[in-house]
Amino acid sequence: MAVILKNHCLLITVLFLCCFCSWRQINGCESLFHPKDILPLLPRQVSWPIVNSLHSAVDLLPAFMGAASIEGNNTLEWKGACFFKNIASLELHNKSKSQFGGGTLHIKVSNAHSWTCLDLYIFATPYRVTWDYYFLSREHTLEIKEWKSEAELEYVKNRGVSIFLLQAGMLGTLSAIWNAFPLFVNNGWGEKSNIDFLEKHMGASFEERPQPWVTNLTTDDIHSGDFLAISKIRGTWGAFETLEKWATGSYAGHTAVCLRDAEGKLWVGESGNNNDKGEDVIAILPWDEWWEFELTKDNTNPHIAVLPLHPDLRAKFNETAAWEYARSMAGKSYGYHNLIFSWIDTIDGNYPPPVDAHLVASVMTVWNQIAPEYGSNLWNEALNKRLGTQNLSLPDILVEVEKRGSSFAKLLAIPEQDDWVYSDGKSASCVAFILEMYKEGGLFGEFANSIQVTEFTIRDAYTLNLFENNSSRLPKWCNADDTVKLPFCQIRGKYRMELPGYNSMDLYPHMNERCPSMPPKYYRPQGC
Ligand SMILES: *[C@@H]1O[C@H](CO)[C@@H](O)[C@H](O)[C@H]1NC(C)=O
Ligand SMILES: *[C@@H]1O[C@H](CO)[C@@H](O)[C@H](O)[C@H]1NC(C)=O
Ligand SMILES: *[C@@H]1O[C@H](CO)[C@@H](O)[C@H](O)[C@H]1NC(C)=O
Ligand SMILES: *[C@@H]1O[C@H](CO)[C@@H](O)[C@H](O)[C@H]1NC(C)=O
Ligand SMILES: *[C@@H]1O[C@H](CO)[C@@H](O)[C@H](O)[C@H]1NC(C)=O
Ligand SMILES: *[C@@H]1O[C@H](CO)[C@@H](O)[C@H](O)[C@H]1NC(C)=O
Ligand SMILES: *[C@@H]1O[C@H](CO)[C@@H](O)[C@H](O)[C@H]1NC(C)=O
Repeated sequence: MAVILKNHCLLITVLFLCCFCSWRQINGCESLFHPKDILPLLPRQVSWPIVNSLHSAVDLLPAFMGAASIEGNNTLEWKGACFFKNIASLELHNKSKSQFGGGTLHIKVSNAHSWTCLDLYIFATPYRVTWDYYFLSREHTLEIKEWKSEAELEYVKNRGVSIFLLQAGMLGTLSAIWNAFPLFVNNGWGEKSNIDFLEKHMGASFEERPQPWVTNLTTDDIHSGDFLAISKIRGTWGAFETLEKWATGSYAGHTAVCLRDAEGKLWVGESGNNNDKGEDVIAILPWDEWWEFELTKDNTNPHIAVLPLHPDLRAKFNETAAWEYARSMAGKSYGYHNLIFSWIDTIDGNYPPPVDAHLVASVMTVWNQIAPEYGSNLWNEALNKRLGTQNLSLPDILVEVEKRGSSFAKLLAIPEQDDWVYSDGKSASCVAFILEMYKEGGLFGEFANSIQVTEFTIRDAYTLNLFENNSSRLPKWCNADDTVKLPFCQIRGKYRMELPGYNSMDLYPHMNERCPSMPPKYYRPQGC
C-alpha cells in the first residue's frame, strides 16, 4: 500500500492522493453504536457529503497524533476516535537486506468505544505516504520493506514516522483515490494508467501518430519567444502532470520557452528543470543540451510541441527585456509558493470531487508536520500575504480567517499578485515564468499592468491568441511526417498532442482570476 514518491513533488501529489480529515475534538461517546460509525461502510458519493456536513472547517483538519520513534523505549501514546488507548513504536531492521534497511511500525489499539467503530490513519515521512485502518483491538504492524534513501533513513531515525488520525467516513474516499496509485509506476503499465485516466476523466484522446515520432527539425526556424508545450505521461512526473491536467483542464503539463542571444544562439528557459542536486529550479540551457536530454534521457515519455509566436508579436518582442528577466530568475526555485493559486480561483468551482478546500488545508497540515522547514515557506507565506499578516502558522491562519467571518476556501481564491516577493525571491511556476517574460518583453501591451500571470494555468497560456495562425508560414518540418496538420508543431511523441482552444483568447484586464475548472467539460464563462 505504500506509495513511494519523489520528494519534490510529493506535496502537490499528496493533495490529490490522500483524503484525510479527522476529529479535532472527540466527543466522549460511550454508546455501543454511533451513527458516524456507519459512514465508512457507505459509498464515497454518499459518505463524503455527510462527513462535510457533520463537521466545521477546523474540525476537518487531520489530527497529528505524534511520531512513532525509535528513540530508547519511548512509545507514542494517544487517544483515537474509536480506540481510546493506542500505542506505537518503530523498529528498524534489515530483513530486506537492502542498502538502507527497512522498518516495522508496531501499533497496539484497545478500548474501543463501540463494537462497530474504526480508526483510520495516515502514516507519513517526507518520502512516502501510506494508510491503514483498524477495527480490532489487538497489535497491528505496518511493514516498510526498505527506506528509499539515506535521507529517509536519517529522517526516521531522528523524527520517526508521523501518524495522523482521519475522519473514519473518509475510508471509501481514500480507497477510491488510492486507485490513482498505478499512475506513478514508471513502466508501460503505469503509462497506460495515465492514458486511461486522462481518457476517462478528461475526455482526452490518444491517437497514435505515424513514425518517426521525433521531428528532424532545423533550429533556424525557432525564434525568441516560441513556446514549448510539454506533456509527460510516465513515472512520477507523468502522474503529477496527469493530476494537474485533470484539476486544471490543461492538455499539457509542463512548459518552456525559446530565447536567442545576441550571437543568435538558441537557448531554452525552463522553470522546473531538475538540477544536479535533484532540486527543481529555473534554468536557461543551450537548446542542443535541452533537446538531447529530452530525446535520450527523459524517462517520462515526453510529448513536445513548438508553439511559434505570431510574427507581429515576434517583431514587438523586446529580447533585451526578456533576457533581463530570465537572468534575474535563473537559479531560483520552481514556483511552488504560488502554483496552486493559479488553479484555485473560485470558492467551489475548481475542486473535482472529492477534493475540496478542507482537503487542501489537510494536505498543508500534514506537510507542515513532516517538513516544517519547507511548509512554512511554501504555503504559509502565500496565505499570510493574502491575509495581510506575517508569520502566522496554518492553524493561526484558519483561526484568523474564521475571526474575520471569512473561510479558508475564500482565502485560497484570492488572486496571486505578480509582484509579491517571497523570502526566497519571486516565485514562478513553469508557465508563470514564460508569461512574465512575455509581459516584460512587451507582448501584453496596454494590459501589462492589469494581468497577473501567476493566475494563469497552462491551458490559460496556450489558449491565448499570441501564436502563428497562418499555416503556410509554419516551418517546413512542422508536422511533415504526420497525416494530420496541427496548427502548432509537435516535435516529439508517439501520440498526437491536442490543445483545445489553442490560440483563440484575446487578452483582457484581470483575466483568469475567477475561473472555475470542473472536469470533464471545464466550462469557462466569458470574462472570468
Ligand atoms: C526505558 O524505560 C525504563 C522505565 O520507564 C527506564 O528506566 C529506562 O531508562 C528506559 N530506557 C531507555 C533506553 O530510555
Ligand atoms: C542490509 O543488508 C545488506 C546485505 O547484507 C547490506 O548491504 C546493507 O548495508 C544493510 N543495510 C543496513 C542499513 O544495515
Ligand atoms: C534531417 O534534415 C536534414 C536537412 O534538413 C538532412 O540533411 C538530414 O539527412 C535529415 N536527417 C534525417 C535523419 O532524416
Ligand atoms: C527593451 O528593453 C530594454 C530593457 O528593459 C529597454 O532599455 C529598451 O528601451 C527596450 N526597447 C524597446 C524598443 O522598447
Ligand atoms: C517574521 O519572521 C521573520 C523571520 O523569522 C522576522 O524577521 C520578522 O521580524 C517576523 N515578522 C513579524 C511581524 O513577526
Ligand atoms: C499566409 O501567409 C502566406 C505566406 O506568407 C501569405 O501569402 C498569405 O497571404 C497569408 N494568409 C493570410 C490569410 O494572411
Ligand atoms: C491571423 O491573425 C491576424 C491578427 O490577429 C488576423 O488579422 C488574420 O486574419 C489571422 N489570419 C488567419 C488566417 O486566421
